[in-house]
Amino acid sequence: MTHMFRSDLLKGRVALVTGGGTGICRGIALAFAAHGCDVAITSRKIEHLEPTAAELRSRGVRAVAKAADVRNADAVGEMTAAIVADLGGIDILVNGAAGNFICMAENLSPNGFGTVVDIDLKGTFNASKAALPHLKVRGGSVLNISATLPYLGTMGQSHAAAAKAGVDSLTKVLACEWGPLKIRVNGIAPGPVEGTEGVRRLMTDASRASLQEHCPLGRMATVDEIANAALYLSSEAASFVTGVTLVVDGGLWLRSARVLS
Ligand code: COA
Repeated sequence: MTHMFRSDLLKGRVALVTGGGTGICRGIALAFAAHGCDVAITSRKIEHLEPTAAELRSRGVRAVAKAADVRNADAVGEMTAAIVADLGGIDILVNGAAGNFICMAENLSPNGFGTVVDIDLKGTFNASKAALPHLKVRGGSVLNISATLPYLGTMGQSHAAAAKAGVDSLTKVLACEWGPLKIRVNGIAPGPVEGTEGVRRLMTDASRASLQEHCPLGRMATVDEIANAALYLSSEAASFVTGVTLVVDGGLWLRSARVLS
């Protein structure tokens, strides 16, 4: 939906979207482009990025794809510098690169736990820090893609829940530290989103049926519904909103622990 409509809401702005080749962040990149934004996307594998970059260009904006692993601060620094050289700056950063799988803590290796924390949490820190000098130039926005996992004791998700709780803390701290620089820092906590790798990896037939029964809005989100929230938080429409993680889950987590009727 979001990218079916067009406006100049983000015209003249440049966004860097990590994890922007696929899933939720591909949808965010396309929505930004539909509203006039030039977009850079990054992830580990260039083959995940090129098709989305071509789609972005077909919408009449400038788009670049650069491969980098967000766990590697040096690689993120080089990627960021290359994007600034190509597109002239960075005004909006979306931290969407993430990794996850289901594994009970008893069976999870220290490296398995650390890998997800490194991608989700340290990756968010690395990209935010690399973007900061560029965000400072005109003021800007950072948007961290979080999750509702840490709000409950989500079994099999010790690694991802810990990482996303850390991301939510970063959102609050950086909002305070970078507000005076005219940089807003917010987050989105989506529930399950139809058609994404996360849903493919994390949901079973049983959890799908339970979601339909218990989610107040009775279904999963679409990618466009998450992109709508990203568009709001990353634009001047949210000019006085900072330090907030917006839950976009159809009310699911509110019902998760208490099913009385
Ligand atoms: N269950 C338990 N442990 C697992 C696992 C699983 N399903 N998948 C990976 N691990 C462990 C590995 O065993 C390894 O630990 P070890 O060295 O102690 O054996 C550690 O995690 C790192 O695995 P590796 O495959 O080397 O990491 P990677 O950097 O190549 O991949 C992942 C990172 C594991 C997060 C991978 O799933 C990935 O690339 N995901 C990206 C896409 C994604 O997850 N999207 C969904 C977002 S919701």
